[in-house]
Amino acid sequence: MPIPEEFIQELKSRNDIVDVVAAYVNLKRSGRNMVGLCPFHNEKTPSFNVSRENEFFYCFGCGAGGDVITFIKKAENLDYIDAVKFLAQRAGMSMPEDSRDSGLAHLKNRIYEANREAARFYHKQLYTPEGKQALDYLRKRNLSEKTIIHFGLGYSPPSRFELVNHLKSKGFTNQEIIQANLANLSKKGYPFDRFSDRVMFPIIDLRGNVIAFGGRIMSDIKPKYLNTSDTPVFNKSRNLFALQFAKNKAKGQLILVEGYMDVIALHQAGFENTVATLGTSLTQEQALIIKRYCDEVVICYDADEAGQKATSRAIAILRGVDLHIRVLRVPDGKDPDEYIKNHGEQGAARFRMLLDKSSNDIQFRLDSLKKQYHLELSDQRVEYLTEAVKVLAQLDSSIEQDVYLSELSNELNVEKQAVKMQMQKYQKRQFRDARKKEQRDIYDAMTAKNDKINSEKFYNLRAANAEEGLISLIMKNPDTAKQIFRQLSPGQFMTSFNRKVYEILKKHSESGGECTMTCISGEFSNEETGSIARILASRPRENDPGRAAEEYIRILTEENEKMTPEQIAQADTQTIMEQLRKLKEKKK
Ligand code: CTP
Ligand code: MN
Repeated sequence: MPIPEEFIQELKSRNDIVDVVAAYVNLKRSGRNMVGLCPFHNEKTPSFNVSRENEFFYCFGCGAGGDVITFIKKAENLDYIDAVKFLAQRAGMSMPEDSRDSGLAHLKNRIYEANREAARFYHKQLYTPEGKQALDYLRKRNLSEKTIIHFGLGYSPPSRFELVNHLKSKGFTNQEIIQANLANLSKKGYPFDRFSDRVMFPIIDLRGNVIAFGGRIMSDIKPKYLNTSDTPVFNKSRNLFALQFAKNKAKGQLILVEGYMDVIALHQAGFENTVATLGTSLTQEQALIIKRYCDEVVICYDADEAGQKATSRAIAILRGVDLHIRVLRVPDGKDPDEYIKNHGEQGAARFRMLLDKSSNDIQFRLDSLKKQYHLELSDQRVEYLTEAVKVLAQLDSSIEQDVYLSELSNELNVEKQAVKMQMQKYQKRQFRDARKKEQRDIYDAMTAKNDKINSEKFYNLRAANAEEGLISLIMKNPDTAKQIFRQLSPGQFMTSFNRKVYEILKKHSESGGECTMTCISGEFSNEETGSIARILASRPRENDPGRAAEEYIRILTEENEKMTPEQIAQADTQTIMEQLRKLKEKKK
């Protein structure tokens, strides 16, 4: 680890985990811990635990867990070094000299700087003779000077070497320019500008870094938009266009559109709570990010068939994270940008009306469902009804449910009571299935069937449980830890994951450190850290840790002496006799 241990300790003590988490999760006290709704998966009952005392968090629902650094890594989508920087900034500490410029963190910083420089360069080009056509294009699309500056729009010149040369003159290496995906490498091995003769849309993250670009061609040449591919600082399915502006204007609601131009036109018209995905369909990661800033999303995709299909997909994903959804349909086969433009001065007011009129996603879903059936045929009517009640079953409000039930019964000419019964039957079945699944999950968790981190656990259940007991004791009771380290060598751990944890804790303690989540988190992946946090969270504090340690050590010694079936098959008779003798002695 490039960052000194003392710095991390200081960082930790100045960033109380409960305070840090409280900025993201509404926490309530529960016994020794604080609990709340997990920010990393979707849930209705709180299973997210934070322990101030033991400096870790753990979610029993999704298995996320770790120390305050792991939390920031996940919540802010940062790597280890950047998460440390984030917390250092929060606590007003400056980073130690030698850790500032190391490896990936250094490269990422250089990419941010190169992107920022590129954005400046592209923007300036708008005001050159060569860039005039791009500026005219933006004006023709009704963008004001203020909007162009606000979004930092620009123009990439056609020559294919101007940006590369400019960046080189500013000290960026070919390697950095290519890693930023601002240039491609030619067959002969020299870099050339990725974007040429396009209107440029910088993509900016929540901390204000330029992380990527979208570039629109001004003619009919394909592709219409060219975007930055994924780079060390950019992942298109984890970011949203204009979220850096929209997050402060959300007031509980975000508008989700398809295109860059839709976002910009809506912001200009006063709807600054608008965001777009980046040339891909909405992902669950994006939905969870959206959920941090609002509880209702208005989907406002293009009116064409592709847009309506995308709406259905987005509804499923947003529902999956429990967001309220409305669907705004733009009339006359337009997208929001064209709609606003076509209505001139009234554009904003008209869009406001559409927004107020937009209904929840149930109507949209019933409408798209209805299109799939020929309702004049009675068997198709029954099929439609069966599917429609499944949609209504998901409504939380029984009043709303009742309204739709009435509509459905009128529409299909079926007794309302019959429709209602059909829906309740479905709800009961769903409830039963959910219960079954819950029981199955508990069973699997108990038998460690699906433990992906410690795959050996299933075959060494008794030993692995003792090992986990010991890990938990070590991390919660410094005095008992010393006793365990004296008595038990890492070789006695039977599952390799737990052995590795033990080894690291032991080494740490021998060099005078404390055994906490923090000394672990630098050495393991997020998933592994989560698994260790589960070990801590699922074990109550022992009243007599010394005795518990003895008991676990005894179990582990015993398990070590047992042989696996393969070992038995291999061993010669003499060794087996020897084993049996030892076991007999134990029993006496
Ligand atoms: N997109 C893309 N690559 C393409 C086409 C589209 O990444 N070849 C993405 C862009 O983010 C674009 C969005 O999909 O903004 C919506 O595409 P589309 O509806 O075709 O474009 P508009 O946003 O309507 O763009 P314009 O109004 O400039 O035609
Ligand atoms: Mn458009």
